[in-house]
Formats: sequence, structure tokens, C-alpha cells
Amino acid sequence: MAKYETLVDQIREQIKNNIWRVGDKLPSLRKQTETTGMSLMTVLHAYQVLESQGWIVSHARSGYFVAPKIQNSNPISKRSNATVSKAEEIDINDFVFDVLKANRTPYTVDFGSVYPDPSLYPRNQVNKSLTSAVSHMPTSSALDNLPPGNKGLRQIIAKRYAAEGMNVHPDEIVITAGALEALNLSLQAVTQAGDWVVVESPTFYGALQSLQRLNLRALSIRTHPTDGIDLDSLEDALKSHTVKACWLMTNQQNPLGCTLSNDKKARLMALLAEYNVYLIEDDVYSELYYGSQKPLPAKAFDQNGMTMHCSSFSKTLVAGFRIGWVAAGKMALPIQKLQMMSTLSASAPIQLALEKYLSARNYENHLRQLRRKLEQRKFAVWQMLCAEMPASVNINYSEGGYFLWIELPDHVDATVLYQQASKENISIAPGRMFSLNNEFDHCFRLNSSFECSLIQERAIKRLAELIQKMLEQ
Ligand SMILES: Cc1ncc(COP(=O)(O)O)c(C=O)c1O
Repeated sequence: MAKYETLVDQIREQIKNNIWRVGDKLPSLRKQTETTGMSLMTVLHAYQVLESQGWIVSHARSGYFVAPKIQNSNPISKRSNATVSKAEEIDINDFVFDVLKANRTPYTVDFGSVYPDPSLYPRNQVNKSLTSAVSHMPTSSALDNLPPGNKGLRQIIAKRYAAEGMNVHPDEIVITAGALEALNLSLQAVTQAGDWVVVESPTFYGALQSLQRLNLRALSIRTHPTDGIDLDSLEDALKSHTVKACWLMTNQQNPLGCTLSNDKKARLMALLAEYNVYLIEDDVYSELYYGSQKPLPAKAFDQNGMTMHCSSFSKTLVAGFRIGWVAAGKMALPIQKLQMMSTLSASAPIQLALEKYLSARNYENHLRQLRRKLEQRKFAVWQMLCAEMPASVNINYSEGGYFLWIELPDHVDATVLYQQASKENISIAPGRMFSLNNEFDHCFRLNSSFECSLIQERAIKRLAELIQKMLEQ
């Protein structure tokens, strides 16, 4: 057995035996080299293996900590053994609408929000860009910015793809009203009522709403909190049904936070090519990665031009501007035609303002600061949850973004928790929003992007108390 494996085994046993508990900090690399006599590289390798196996998590500049999901290995969706579930009719919109509306109450501690803390956006700089764009706006701007959208903005987005090694021509890009319009138009472009569409389970509720609106049928594929979508189950679904499209989140999935490895992305694209299925790639969080490397989209592994890659500036720069895009390849023209029939175009002054911001300001610098803040805050919230939540609660930590996915014991209903917490002005996003069956009714998503002030701390303590009471019933 290699030396690093001995250390891996040893630490794994210690975690199993509760010598190291959830959230505990492991000895630093240096300390571990002193106590074990192993080299720094050996210890580092052992920690990296433990991390890849989900036993520990690393946090920049703080060290390595015991991950909770192993400790309370509470398998996700105990309510069903199905890895693929079907829905002929979708009826989710009313529930989602009610939750989103209720969460807008003023003075709410907004752990249910889908957006990052607005104070993290560079508001002044964006506002200055808007003022300048509006005051210099040519009279022809309404026409110039019709689909496919502002040329300068599309060129900037194409350059950002090029920086990732991807060859996306500006003419393949359509500017939309947020990623949601990009996703909706893409789905509409490749499906007809009654078609089967694959989604993850759990998935972003916007995907389910979109399927409902277009009268599509859903095949939900089991998706693991760390490994992402189960590709064997996806293959089964593709074999047994004529699937038109998959709507998938390959990076920092909402609500789980998981990112597919490059190997999985490549296998996904090979599968979709084999069954001739379009991929609608919902990729709004990939700029919010931790670590040094931005994760590639699955589109980077697409050799057949079957991917419509959708993203936006809503989670990274400004929420209310509602500017997104789709890199649609050969579907760019049909998507423009659909856009012309519905919203006509994204707002001209707002497109111009973003073009101005992105060409004159330091977006990369802002992104670096944003990522750092989100990582620090997520870690602080995670630690607080580990300290406050009852031991039977499973808190899934994921690298990147600002969501934590929390699993309560199977008999506890997170929708009831959501209702009780709402009365005390605390919002959460209950698991029911993310699924077409009751598989995730015991889960909720928590937004960790807010600074952990006294108010947030009290709200977390209160959530823990409410959960404890529900456990005792
Ligand atoms: C996974 C996912 N896709 C798409 C969207 C919509 O993004 P936008 O606000 O840019 O329309 C959201 C955010 O609400 C999201 O979480």
C-alpha cells in the first residue's frame, strides 16, 4: 500500500469513528507531515484523495475540514428507488409562483433567494455605464439592437468563449431578456407539444415551468449532490423514449451546486450525439467557480452542433437588467424568429449599457472579488449550519456558487418548515419547487451569499429550532 493510502485509510477511519466530526478542521499539511513523518507531497495527495471522495472539503487559506455528507450519509430521495421518473402532465407553476411571491416580503431574511446578495454587484459602475449609454444612444438604436442583438455585446461574449478555447462566432449568439428567455426560446425551437424532454431531478423550477408552458412531457433523471446527473439512467431514458431535448445544468447545478467533471461532460455529449438529442445547456453560474479554473461548458465537448448554451449577467453583474444570451449555433436563426414573435428584442439601452460596462470596466476584477466573497460567505454559513443544525440534518457543501442543499430526515416536510419560517420573516426555497414528485419534499435550498450578520445568525438558529421541533413531533 502506498504511503498516502495509509494516511487516507487512517483519516477515513477517524472520521467514521467520530474522532473528527462534521466541520472540524483537520491538522494542517505541515502539522500532518510533522506527526506522520511523511513528505508534504504525500500528505497533500492524501488530502486531495479524501477530498475527491467527499470525506473532507478544502477552503482557501483556511485548510481542510470534515465534510458533513459522509458523516450523516442520508441518501438523497429515499422516497423512491426510481432513477428515471416520468411526468405526462406538469403542474408546478402555481406552487412556484406562490413561493416566489411570498419570498418578496420586505424585511425577510432571504435564504430562499435565487440571486446573490445585491450588495455584491458593482452597482455604481453599472449605473454610470447606463447613464453614459443612454446619453450617447444613437436614434437608430432600437433597430440596431433587434435580434440577434447588439453587435458589440455579441463580439465581447464571443471573445469570452474564445478565451476558454471555444470557437463561437458572434452571429451564432442571440441576446435575450435574461437566461430564462434564452432557455425558453431554445426549448421552443426544438420541441412540439407532447415531446419528451429530459431534466435533472432535482432541477431548477424554471425548467419545469417552461415544460409546463409548452405542454411537454418530462423525464426526470436522478442527479447526485456531488456527482451530478446519473448518465446510465440518462442512457436508459434515451433508449426507452424518443427524447427531443435535454435541459441540463452542467456547472454549479441549481439547487444542488454540483459540477460535472470533463469526462462526464464528454460522455454526455457522446450519448446525446448517439441518440440525436439537443442539449439546452443552462449555465448561469459557471463564472462563480472557486479555485483557479473556470469549468468548461458541455458545449466545449460538442462535435455535432447540437448544444444551445444559455447564460446571462444576472448572477454575476446585475440582476434587474435582464440580459442573457444563447450561443445557439445553427439554431440561432429559428430562435431569433421566435424572439421577434414574442418579446421582439432585449431592451436597447440596457444592451448598450452592458456593452459599455464590459468594454470600459474591469469585469474580470469584479468577478475575482465576487468569487472570493461568495466562497468566504458560503464557508461561514456552512460552518454555522454544521454547528446549529440537529445531527440528523445533512448539509451538502459544493465548490462554487452560493447554494447549500439541505436534506432533513425523510419524514420532515420542508414545505411546512418553509411556511413556519415565512411567518417569522425567514425565507427558504423548499425542495418541492425543484421536482415533479414528492422526492425532495424533505429538502431545501439555502442561499449563502449574504454576510453572516447577527440577523442571519439568529435566522439560522431559529431554522434549527424549528427543525428540532419538527423532529420531536
Ligand atoms: C439555473 C438557472 N437558470 C436560469 C436562471 C434564469 O436566469 P436569468 O435571471 O438570467 O433569466 C436562473 C435564475 O433564476 C437559474 O437559477
